[in-house]
Amino acid sequence: MTQSILFVCLGNICRSPAAEGVFNHQVKAKNLESHFNVDSAGTGAWHVGNKADLRMREAARRRGVSINSRARQILPQDLINFDFIFTMDDENFLSVNKLAAKVDACPKAIIQPILRYASNTKMLEVPDPYYGGESGFEYVLDLLEDACEGLLKELISRD
Ligand code: 4NP
Repeated sequence: MTQSILFVCLGNICRSPAAEGVFNHQVKAKNLESHFNVDSAGTGAWHVGNKADLRMREAARRRGVSINSRARQILPQDLINFDFIFTMDDENFLSVNKLAAKVDACPKAIIQPILRYASNTKMLEVPDPYYGGESGFEYVLDLLEDACEGLLKELISRD
């Protein structure tokens, strides 16, 4: 069975493209590509059509992770099409839940903070690295590698 997953942040140029890249990388390492359909989106529209932030792409590339996304804004239809929507912070979580409440058809997606699957932190928010320095991007990747590993284990156990 294919499980469809959408990662969501604010701009869709830093955190959620990184989550998409990290998760895809881990899925590929286990030869499970046919089991997952993975995408990312932002709650905001400022960066629609743009590649992910160069600092994020470079930090990911140094870990062997490719980020190839183009930013898009989350659509009401995503709440119906995706099995899971994983948000990066409380603001995204609230925005996606508000959007779900407006969808006429029954939303299918289970909406959760991605960090609930992390083992090495009790935090539930991935900090926005956009206005900070290099170390913020590395920290986002540390958090996401941990959380995606936990998530993948959980999803494999359900499959
Ligand atoms: P992201 O980071 O939500 O992780 O993609 C951001 C990128 C850009 C902006 C905000 C957050 N911005 O305001 O332009």
